[in-house]
Amino acid sequence: MCGIIGYSGNRETKEVLLNGLYALEYRGYDSSGIALSDGVSTKIIRSVGRVCQLEDKIRDEENFSANYGIAHTRWATNGEANLFNSHPHQVGHVTLVHNGIIENADFLRQKLIRKGYMFNSDTDTEVIAALLDSKLEGNNVISAINMMMKELTGSYALGIMVEHDPNLYAVRKDSPLLIGFEDDGCFLASDITAIIQYTNQYILLDHCEIAVLNQGNYQVYKNCKLIEKEVLMSDSKGIDPSKCGYEHYMLKEIMEEPIVLKQLIDRYKEEDRQKELDLSNYQEIDIVGCGSAMYAGFIGQSLIEEYAGIKVQVYSASEYRYKRKIYHRKTLIILISQSGETADTIAAMREAEKIGIDTLGLVNYPDSTIARECRRVILTNAGVEIAVATTKAYILQVCVLSLMAYVTAKNKGTLKFDIEYEEFENVPILLESVLERSYEYQAIANQIYSKESCFYIGRGIDYAICMEGSLKLKEVSYIHSEAYQAGELKHGTISLVEEGMPVLCVITDKRLKEKSISNLKEVEARGAKTIVVTTFELDDFGGELKIVVPVVNSFMQTILVVPVLQLLSYYVALNRGCDIDKPKNLAKSVTVE
Ligand code: AGP
Repeated sequence: MCGIIGYSGNRETKEVLLNGLYALEYRGYDSSGIALSDGVSTKIIRSVGRVCQLEDKIRDEENFSANYGIAHTRWATNGEANLFNSHPHQVGHVTLVHNGIIENADFLRQKLIRKGYMFNSDTDTEVIAALLDSKLEGNNVISAINMMMKELTGSYALGIMVEHDPNLYAVRKDSPLLIGFEDDGCFLASDITAIIQYTNQYILLDHCEIAVLNQGNYQVYKNCKLIEKEVLMSDSKGIDPSKCGYEHYMLKEIMEEPIVLKQLIDRYKEEDRQKELDLSNYQEIDIVGCGSAMYAGFIGQSLIEEYAGIKVQVYSASEYRYKRKIYHRKTLIILISQSGETADTIAAMREAEKIGIDTLGLVNYPDSTIARECRRVILTNAGVEIAVATTKAYILQVCVLSLMAYVTAKNKGTLKFDIEYEEFENVPILLESVLERSYEYQAIANQIYSKESCFYIGRGIDYAICMEGSLKLKEVSYIHSEAYQAGELKHGTISLVEEGMPVLCVITDKRLKEKSISNLKEVEARGAKTIVVTTFELDDFGGELKIVVPVVNSFMQTILVVPVLQLLSYYVALNRGCDIDKPKNLAKSVTVE
């Protein structure tokens, strides 16, 4: 993960780099650092923790005026989150920042130690700096970088400064990096949000291309030869840093769900537009994603199989990319990603494209790698999500998949009951009514927040809902939580149920209601504190703690249930005093394997 930014130009370098770091902080917030140069000397300032802590340190150094510099916000991979491991790293003449993972770092470190290099950190990044420094003797910087790349295995996006050299250098392999520019300045950045307040013009660096930046000028080299690059324009609005009066971005983003949902449902009102949702050409579908994106996939699987009669398999991208694939029939691979930058999902997409299987990206972030590279793309357009825990983007992923199931079933003639598209238009209003009752979820959160472990159980699509609910709870509140198929619990796991342990059961599927209730009774008999989330239609059974949501057609029922679980997690985390928008150990965008 990690975010990198660099600047060379007439603006106040420190300000540009700091603003960039704030925008990139979602990529990691274990530590941050900055290297500034006035062309003669280099000043490095680093800090453990958030960018605001780095800012305090930088403010103490007001009198250093820089023409160019690089900066980094870290999600620790090699080495713990301490000052020694913070970037930038400086070895010999080289100072650099890195996003990615060098797989042969240990081997290279030993080799460099034998040459006389000494290391102060546990990072692979310091190894890159030493390696590049070792190649500088007798070579110009571009040749040295090329020689360095030949020895590196793994992924990297690098921002590089070389002592007494007025240029900034940028190079990448398998980690994202772009170059932005304006009349009197150039930027390097992990993504466009870091620089969008200054420019929307950029070029994308391809693998192993090297960019040289100096004030308003840049050149790009491939194999030491100058090349031309296509200039792109971003229409990203950047990050709106206001919380609109909410205490946390997570809460703000949950409350935005009805609006963004309405926009999405309105987008497909016209039958002509619905064509892009039609999957009836395919006989098999693989849905690939990570975390919540994968869990949205499980909702899609349930609906597409049930109503459109197409076999769907759901995979974690980190497993999918390395598994043996067996494609018998006309297959589509749907890649789901909020950020569009998740390394494993990108790898799965590229592999599929290489072997010629149809791909469809379901992405929120329009300037992302998947949005740019995937053969076919549907944008969820949930707007920027700042909280690390995804909420509104997940809801829109589910909505697109639900609409796909609906449109495909209609076109194939497999829909056994009548639903007009207009019925979906009511869902955002119903969702608003669900969100308005947040005091109910808060009251339940007050009863369970001090527990250390819990289960979410359900059957069929309700189990898919539980997977997302359980992930949300553990990521923001740090309570250990597991989602289980309700019927499977007694095959071993029920031994963990203890007096007072919360077990939340989702029941929205009429056909499986009685079965789930039996499973609920089994855990109740063992002392569990049960919480039921169900619909008004099914609510004819007892239960101590119950949340009842309005009924909609089965394509959209999930969209009225998961927000309840999101809010429940939010209030539990609030009670526990957790850092809700930036939970420990996490990052918004997972750009390493
Ligand atoms: C969700 O709350 C998580 N933070 C995480 O599981 C996330 O969904 C996953 O990392 C995938 O990210 P993507 O959608 O950007 O690919």
